[in-house]
Amino acid sequence: MEEIPNKSHVLVLPFPVQGHINPMVQFSKRLASRGVKVTLITIDSISKSMPMNSNTIKIESIPHDEAPPDSYDNFLEWFHVLVSKNLRQIVEKLYDLEYPVKVLVFDSITTWAIDLAHQLGLKGAAFFTQSCALSVIYYHMDPEKRKVPFDGNSVIELPSLPLLEKKDLPSFVCQSDLYPSLAKLVFSRNINFKNADWLLYNSFDVLEKEVIDWIRTQYRIKTIGPIIPSMYLDKRLKDDKEYGLSLFKPNNETCMKWLDSREIGSVVYVSFGSLANLGEQQMEELASGLMMSNCYFLWVVRATEENKLPNEFISKAKEKGLIVNWCPQLDVLAHQAVGCFFTHCGWNSTLEALSLGVPMVAMPQWSDQPTNAKFICDVWQTGLRVKARENGVITREEVASSLREVMEEEKGVMLKKNAIKWKQLAKEAVDEGGSSDKNIEEFLKLVFALD
Ligand code: UDX
Repeated sequence: MEEIPNKSHVLVLPFPVQGHINPMVQFSKRLASRGVKVTLITIDSISKSMPMNSNTIKIESIPHDEAPPDSYDNFLEWFHVLVSKNLRQIVEKLYDLEYPVKVLVFDSITTWAIDLAHQLGLKGAAFFTQSCALSVIYYHMDPEKRKVPFDGNSVIELPSLPLLEKKDLPSFVCQSDLYPSLAKLVFSRNINFKNADWLLYNSFDVLEKEVIDWIRTQYRIKTIGPIIPSMYLDKRLKDDKEYGLSLFKPNNETCMKWLDSREIGSVVYVSFGSLANLGEQQMEELASGLMMSNCYFLWVVRATEENKLPNEFISKAKEKGLIVNWCPQLDVLAHQAVGCFFTHCGWNSTLEALSLGVPMVAMPQWSDQPTNAKFICDVWQTGLRVKARENGVITREEVASSLREVMEEEKGVMLKKNAIKWKQLAKEAVDEGGSSDKNIEEFLKLVFALD
């Protein structure tokens, strides 16, 4: 590999929730492995409760008197104020002639970060933790009405995307009133296109080929994904088995032991990620559907969701299922016993399932998840989506029949075959000389070349 000078220091600023921290920590590790000094900026309530498991990345943690707000919407505003007050001081503190701070890699949702970076004389790279397709949808939003124009049609046609029905659109398009500041930020994400010095996407070229070709007619983007721990895809970071900064404590031993005792392809892994909340009725339908399917299941129910489980379900489910508050998801998806992922279609979960060749049953909840589900089912063809009743509820019968279709029927065989194909393509993208690998190397060269 060509030798390039490597005295540079990059700051990385993820929005501090699990789904944003994971890919940005992983990207940081990749930069650090090529000699860049990397400091990850987070908040005290995270760094103090969860030590970072990495000896290559340093953490700079911002103190705060009040606890972060519970509402996701207020959390975004709160984080904005906190970072604005503290970033200059952090950059001054990290002043080092040998390794000068040159770049801020910021979460694309913190659109305000690019101005802070430029004010401090740094270059700014926007890191998109969602698909490129999402950007195409947001790009075409009417900024005044904050709605994709339907023009009275039941489907919407946008360049490079499959025809989208209302159910396939990101929730902020249809329900922007629910999360006003979040919706505002999401729609203003286009600011990054104009102002950021680099646009980095956790995706890979063949995965979203047409979409990426279209974006590249407008902007110079770099795809750098799927950025998941190397053990599972790209063996260059030795022993790199986990992302490294978990806000939840996984139940590793229990999960892996239980999976070891199950037959190949016999288990459904069920998880809705770190943020989604199901209603009580939906929890009950899901629980009953899992039992009706007669499949073995490993279900992650976060501690804050546990009280929604139907009475006596845990004891009844013991024969067929294991319920945990958090699990080592990559290990679980890579386990031979897992035959299907019943998922909310968060972007990380989607990429992880594709990269590990696991077919999916999609039950999207909010944000980008409906669009991810559309691609899973119709573009990559590695999963099928449960159908909701008019009141939005997915019935137990629907849960059970979707699972049987993937686990036992001909359709499942086809989905698995496609999943294996995507696993290979993901590996090729991140392997040495692959599209994402080349883009990271190019980014590094530009960073090192900065004065
Ligand atoms: C959210 C959005 O859903 C996602 O689309 C967005 O782009 C980032 O923020 P989240 O809902 O938490 O994230 O889902 P997901 O993107 O799937 O991220 C969850 C992460 O937690 C994954 O990396 C997954 O491996 C990990 N996880 C989840 C565990 O390690 N253990 C678990 O038990 C569950």
